[in-house]
Amino acid sequence: MFIDTNEIDAIKAFAKTGILKGVTTNPTILSKGNKSRFTQLEELLALGFEEVFVQVLGTTAEEMVADYEAIKTFDANHQLSIKVPVTQQGLEAITRIKGDDSNRIVLGTLIYSADQGVLATIAGCDYLAPYVNRMSNNNIDPLQVISHMRSFIDERAYETKVIAASFKNANQVIDSLTAGAHTATVPPDVFESMMNKDLALKALDVFENDGRSLFLKYGE
Ligand code: E4P
Repeated sequence: MFIDTNEIDAIKAFAKTGILKGVTTNPTILSKGNKSRFTQLEELLALGFEEVFVQVLGTTAEEMVADYEAIKTFDANHQLSIKVPVTQQGLEAITRIKGDDSNRIVLGTLIYSADQGVLATIAGCDYLAPYVNRMSNNNIDPLQVISHMRSFIDERAYETKVIAASFKNANQVIDSLTAGAHTATVPPDVFESMMNKDLALKALDVFENDGRSLFLKYGE
């Protein structure tokens, strides 16, 4: 699982569960931090995750590649994974970034349809990020998009992974994973809601009280 935030304290807390592989950001997320983009990325990298994602800025291939070059200069150890919007210009940028460094992990983002995912897979993306909640808000069936992309990937034996993104509740996460997403990037509030269920916490209280009362009576 991945966490979709720049909130260091939340990331550290959730990392203790041992189930986080990495952190995803986007320009909107980073714009909410009160530090520069690279300072925030430095802090995220220092957490030691396998993958930390940053989205290139720009709408043209030239601008996106130029921003990738700036990211490369900052990220001398090649640790950052790169998110690129899947547009015509973005596909060109993906091809150029992969041509520059085939080992650089590239994620095709802003995916609202399976055809974008298919093209991004052919272009060499390591990950595809379908925007689940945003698709639902626009009357697009995100589960069908995920399942079509997954079939394309599996039938042709690509190694691309679907990392479902844009969530507002836990059901969307589970539906996406069962529809074929390999993994998901989840914001802290949704993560929290997946772990701390009211019914489970209430049942835990009862077990705890009963167990303690037995302990008080007889010890051990
Ligand atoms: C994915 O990588 C994006 O950062 C993110 O999931 C978008 O989510 P939003 O629709 O809540 O902005």
